[in-house]
Amino acid sequence: MEILKRVYQNAQKYQKRIVLPEGAEPRTLRATEIVLNQKLAQIILLGNPEEIIQAATEIGVNIEGATIVNPKTDQRREAYADLMVEIRKSKGLTREAALELLNDPLYFAPMMIKSGDADGELAGAINATGDVLRPALQYVKTVPGVSVVSGAFLMFVNPHFGHEGILVFADCAVMPDPDERQLAEIAVTTAKTAKAIVGMDPRVAMLSFSTMGSAQHPLVDKMSNATRIARELDPDLKIDGEMQLDAALIPEVGRLKAPDSEVAGRANILVFPGLEAANIGYKLVQRLGKAEAVGPILQGMAAPINDLSRGCSVIDIVNMVAITANQAAALFD
Ligand code: ACO
Repeated sequence: MEILKRVYQNAQKYQKRIVLPEGAEPRTLRATEIVLNQKLAQIILLGNPEEIIQAATEIGVNIEGATIVNPKTDQRREAYADLMVEIRKSKGLTREAALELLNDPLYFAPMMIKSGDADGELAGAINATGDVLRPALQYVKTVPGVSVVSGAFLMFVNPHFGHEGILVFADCAVMPDPDERQLAEIAVTTAKTAKAIVGMDPRVAMLSFSTMGSAQHPLVDKMSNATRIARELDPDLKIDGEMQLDAALIPEVGRLKAPDSEVAGRANILVFPGLEAANIGYKLVQRLGKAEAVGPILQGMAAPINDLSRGCSVIDIVNMVAITANQAAALFD
């Protein structure tokens, strides 16, 4: 896992401030101890300080060095509420409603980031994806020029595939039914993520059940149109499609079905046609193929905010803190 080693080394260099809204959650606390010991980031835990310290003591974890912030009493609440009202005034948000929302750490954390008091956020060990994402989408929003937030997974497969055995899958986490333009944006942002985090030279395959027109169907047209739009968005991007998974990954099949493609047979980024295929696909590779899956890495957001699976392990959290710190450095440095 050379790549993860590099991600850790970068995180140690950057010392970004990562806010963890699920401050009293046991895996989060264990991960905090590891992150602090390995000096991967500065950690801000949100919640009631007494509850957090008691939870840490109960499981024998040392979280000295973490900053604990209580969203219900913190002195920045007034300023954050003003900013929330400003951002959501067209939606009729009142100051009273904003202060109420700030009691929820999943709203307080994005406002810390928006106000420059934290560099990144990681949550989802005990909250559903939608609940983590909604406040981030509403207040932190997308990076200029991007309209779609999506989620990529680094899939550590075997050295025959991808970049040193890593394939990047997207969008496995956010957009249930992306249109052509959104799929094109997902392709372009995933290539940027792969470059920034893995150091990959991206070769993007736009997946379908057809390769280069072998079948006719509106769903096939959707992927070939998305490929064309992605080329317009980033003319230097190596991208091809629509293509089937075997044409994307297996050199002999790629040569047979798409002989003129610089991507077929050697793709390292797979863009799926929708969330159903992508989410099921990454879990198949993870569970049946025994690949390690790191993510989802959320991309396209104006600041790094990442979502954990509720089945995550302590090491998953540590890895994602390091990745969030790397994303923060790529965005802000
Ligand atoms: N990119 C950018 N902005 C977005 C996106 C997106 N992908 N999706 C929604 N928004 C914006 C909307 O425009 C809206 O903005 P506004 O309030 O300023 O007008 C705001 O975010 C809220 O959008 P809604 O559509 O009202 O919110 P919704 O309740 O639909 O939530 C969400 C959006 C949470 C992303 C939803 O699409 C969702 O739940 N997706 C699936 C997540 C999921 O369950 N993934 C699988 C599990 S993850 C895993 O297994 C790894």
